[in-house]
Amino acid sequence: MKILVTGGAGFIGSAVVRHIVQNTQDVVLNVDKLTYAGNLESLASVHGHERYTFSQTDICDRQTFDRLIADFQPDAIMHLAAESHVDRSISGPAAFIETNIIGTYQLLEASRQYWNTLPDNKKQAFRFHHISTDEVYGDLEGTDDLFLETTPYAPSSPYSASKASSDHLVRAWHRTYGLPVVVTNCSNNYGPYHFPEKLIPLIIQNALAGKALPIYGNGHQIRDWLFVEDHARALYKVMTEAAVGETYNIGGHNEQKNIDVVKAICDLLEDLAPNKPQGIKHYQDLITYVTDRPGHDLRYAIDASKIQKDLGWVPQESFETGLRKTIEWYLSNQEWVEHIQSGEYQNWIQQQYRTEQV
Ligand code: NAD
Ligand code: TYD
Repeated sequence: MKILVTGGAGFIGSAVVRHIVQNTQDVVLNVDKLTYAGNLESLASVHGHERYTFSQTDICDRQTFDRLIADFQPDAIMHLAAESHVDRSISGPAAFIETNIIGTYQLLEASRQYWNTLPDNKKQAFRFHHISTDEVYGDLEGTDDLFLETTPYAPSSPYSASKASSDHLVRAWHRTYGLPVVVTNCSNNYGPYHFPEKLIPLIIQNALAGKALPIYGNGHQIRDWLFVEDHARALYKVMTEAAVGETYNIGGHNEQKNIDVVKAICDLLEDLAPNKPQGIKHYQDLITYVTDRPGHDLRYAIDASKIQKDLGWVPQESFETGLRKTIEWYLSNQEWVEHIQSGEYQNWIQQQYRTEQV
């Protein structure tokens, strides 16, 4: 297959590209704008591979995208390009509207135009796989419910609202124009190459530097964590095996309170990085409660039984093994982190945590 991946230089996109190049015979074109979150160093292991090419392109740039798609002639598009950080969507929603909504619209139109030119057999086989989030379903506070594929949308943040909008556009392009789409909604990912503005890598990096570990509010908010490589496997399975028009929720059956995640990281670091910065006795002593996120969703949890039943996918990594692997990766790849922690990252940290001395 020829697969066009958007956002392939990001956290999940790079895991998908590495997975495809290393485990299949497929050819990949990675289309990524390289925003602050895009990093070609995450793709060093596939750089120069004969089945991998990269184009630095904004998905909103329709002219360039039309040319790319016509030249590459993909059998499938896996759409991961997005602005993805909730806190950034609160302080600056414009980029989220632009990339997540307008960008997805441009991509759908480019795909439809291309798809209409294909011969019947290729037309039937083509897939537009839209990669989305469980955050579109909103907050499960106060219930034991799990998100099902049929759960009504109730997004809370500019990020989740923009992703919900893009999901609706994708389904409308299927229903109205017949574009063969599949949609996946996944829970919080963690693992190697995760940008250190998100909870797990931020906590690892701050702990190693002897800095405060910021917990929003009381830290009792719950997320359902999935190891990124399990997600990449699930995405490939859905893209190649799911019926047209289907939606799959993907999750790790792994609900954790934020405070417990942070404590688990601290405990693992005691074992894996016992030489602490000067003056630090226990990593947990660095835990600092800071001002809560506005509109903060208290609980997300996925029912992933449909993908298990239909496609036989289950996560391979437990939270314990996945978190240990992740910390070990960060300890061995400090150079990757240092290259990211440049000007733009410093500006974000100062703006986001300025009153908290994090
Ligand atoms: P990320 O922020 O790490 O990466 C996003 C990538 O998209 C970056 O490489 C960036 O350069 C690129 N990009 C941004 N705007 C672009 C544009 N206009 N044109 C082309 N490329 C652009 O995000 P991620 O965590 O890898 O998430 C990937 C996808 O998965 C997103 O759609 C996100 O909504 C979804 N998702 C993420 C999670 C999670 O826990 N991270 C969970 C479920 C779903
Ligand atoms: P995050 O990694 O930003 O993912 P999302 O908001 O998409 O779930 O945050 C995960 C959880 O951790 C979320 O409940 C917010 C919380 N959090 C903190 O408590 N402190 C922090 O510094 C960050 C970045 C997140």
